[in-house]
Amino acid sequence: MEEISNYIQQHKDRFVNELVTLLKIPSISADSAHSQDVIETAEAVEKSLKDAGCDHTEICETKGYPVVYGEKIIDAKLPTILVYGHYDVQPPDPLSLWNSPPFEPVIKTTDLHPDGAIFARGACDDKGQMFMHVKALEFMVKNNALPCNVKFMIEGEEEVGSDSLADFLAEHKEKLDNDIILISDTGMMANDVPSITTGLRGLSYVEVEVVGPNRDLHSGIYGGAVPNPINILSKMIASLHDENNHITIPGFYDKVEELSTAERAHMAEAPFSLEAYKNALAIGDVYGESGYTTPERYSIRPTLDVNGIWGGYTGEGAKTVIASKANAKISMRLVPHQDPDEITELFARHFEAIAPEGVKVTVTPHHGGLPYVTPTDSIGYQAAAKAYETTFGKTPIPERTGGSIPIVALFEEVLGSKTILMGFGLDSDAIHSPNEHFGVWNFLKGIETIPYFYKYYTEFSTQ
Ligand code: BES
Ligand code: MN
Ligand code: MN
Repeated sequence: MEEISNYIQQHKDRFVNELVTLLKIPSISADSAHSQDVIETAEAVEKSLKDAGCDHTEICETKGYPVVYGEKIIDAKLPTILVYGHYDVQPPDPLSLWNSPPFEPVIKTTDLHPDGAIFARGACDDKGQMFMHVKALEFMVKNNALPCNVKFMIEGEEEVGSDSLADFLAEHKEKLDNDIILISDTGMMANDVPSITTGLRGLSYVEVEVVGPNRDLHSGIYGGAVPNPINILSKMIASLHDENNHITIPGFYDKVEELSTAERAHMAEAPFSLEAYKNALAIGDVYGESGYTTPERYSIRPTLDVNGIWGGYTGEGAKTVIASKANAKISMRLVPHQDPDEITELFARHFEAIAPEGVKVTVTPHHGGLPYVTPTDSIGYQAAAKAYETTFGKTPIPERTGGSIPIVALFEEVLGSKTILMGFGLDSDAIHSPNEHFGVWNFLKGIETIPYFYKYYTEFSTQ
């Protein structure tokens, strides 16, 4: 298998160029103006799977954007790995904060990426990480090194909640049948501190509207005497955390899994620098729930955050007005045993209960997702750990992350399989933000590590 590093050396420029071509298509699933681009990206991904050596590929229609499927079955008796990823990307705005256009990829070096990083929307999340698997397959097929069966399922609606995927899984259970699911859509601690993601948070996402008077009013004539929806919404939101930054929604913590002292002590052994964390974000101090460390706050604790808030006059200059309504979008990140539907219900009941008489409150649920935790004593985890040991020369650290990939819990429920999360991005790669990038080193390291997972997983399952 030493051939993998030779193969990468020989072909790395082409690998990067092919990824750059894919990154040029603005596959923004949230923006219907780009629906043609999303579909064009699906076609490009299908072609890349065919070129990499899949025996069968297809574009599977769903009620939303298509799922790209590909497979290479070498022997029904051998294990089957199902690779999941997504070809859609987040909207790039605000455009003015990008140093180069989001869909015109450029390679520049940074402090953390001395070998260069590809700057483009989707470079890391998830086109770049998904494409590592395509190139790893290419290597294995061309070098007769594919040890087991492989299936690919690359979707186009992850960034908008994977709405069509539940039906897709139910309809294609047999086609998707597998022994283990492999995903690269998370990160690792640092280039010299490999880690494997063992947990994802769940999500409940709601939109709220507070309506007061039947029209916008003169803030002098009426001000002080009527309910101002923006003042009231701000007050309601502020009351959702107490002075210890605990969430005040009754029942919110009822099912939260509390980690044992031993588990928390184990977590605290992972390298983490509070100073570096604050410096990277230019914040004077961190902020969060008392009684928990920063890594705990962003991984094993649930949250409630306003993601957007609007209402009233926000144009140039001053307009004296009391708006008739105010709105906000709120996300709650959930931890094991919290159920997104239940949490949404608790939120709605509480938010309606704390609204003063003079306003009407509406809570509209958006997408949600269950949290996920994967065991480290499985052969899947052990194979992944040995793959990192081989290519990084270090044992990876198991790490629960704060982000969400709601489909992972559904995979377990519908297909009955566990997922291994081998992410090669860094938190500083600015996914979802302006100037998203992915280290060229990380991209190539991923391509190098993935075939070892195939090798060890096959060895461990056939022992
Ligand atoms: N790849 C991310 C999730 C992620 C990133 C997990 C880094 C862990 C570390 C994924 O594309 C994403 O953005 N998920 C959304 C949820 C989805 C329902 C829109 C998220 O976490 O906000
Ligand atoms: Mn992603
Ligand atoms: Mn994302």
